Amino acid sequence: MKCILLGAPGAGKGTQAQFLTKEFSIPQISTGDMLRAAIKAGTELGLKAKAAIDAGQLVSDEIIIGMVKERIAEDDCANGFLLDGFPRTVPQADALAEAGVSIDAVIEIDVPDEVIVERMSGRRAHLASGRTYHVVYNPPKEEGKDDVTGEELVQRDDDKPAVVLDRLRVYHEQTAPLVGYYKDAASKIENLKYITIDGTQAIDTVEKEILSALK
Ligand code: AP5
Ligand code: ZN
Repeated sequence: MKCILLGAPGAGKGTQAQFLTKEFSIPQISTGDMLRAAIKAGTELGLKAKAAIDAGQLVSDEIIIGMVKERIAEDDCANGFLLDGFPRTVPQADALAEAGVSIDAVIEIDVPDEVIVERMSGRRAHLASGRTYHVVYNPPKEEGKDDVTGEELVQRDDDKPAVVLDRLRVYHEQTAPLVGYYKDAASKIENLKYITIDGTQAIDTVEKEILSALK
């Protein structure tokens, strides 16, 4: 199965990806996680990405499209994958379609801006794996520690309130048009499902609704 998770920053894409990748045995392709790994490794790509991410802006389409095309050509993607955070602009969506990738489902997780700001301030992340937690809504078993590795959790640099507001603005300007883009595509392409889920519900309710909509 080839799926796209669509939603504002903090809507819960990464959280649901953890569940969906297990359920369907497909890899998660999170462009945000890939960029953060490149920053940590100090690569040329990481250096280019850091300034944009810290400012709440998008990294250039050219860089992102190249990165995703390389990733989906890898062997573990042969039976499908879950795209988390890509596409994020109309040119990125066009590039995916032009590459001949046929998507089975677009899952939109819908959460209003007010809820997002609260979620971001409580988010804690394990950067090496991309696992995310929330101090209230999804706490780790041991405070401040990743459930799997026991390593320290951190707050992402771009979760500072001022940057969150910039990310939301960028989302509405550049990514929200993909809602109409994929609804329209789903009305024309028989095998493409467009699913909208109310992402303000509890994490396990969102999981259940996604699952029943996919089946
Ligand atoms: P990226 O890492 O993709 O960030 P994002 O889209 O802003 O999304 P987040 O990871 O912040 O949120 P999420 O939806 O995964 O929420 P989560 O599950 O963690 O991208 C970062 C940056 O990289 C971008 O700003 C951009 O600069 C660059 N970039 C990435 N992709 C790009 C692209 N394609 N093109 C250009 N640039 C790109 O949940 C958030 C919190 O809420 C957590 O604490 C979680 O525990 C909690 N939570 C989740 N669900 C619920 C629930 N149902 N109820 C209560 N709490 C919940
Ligand atoms: Zn994420």
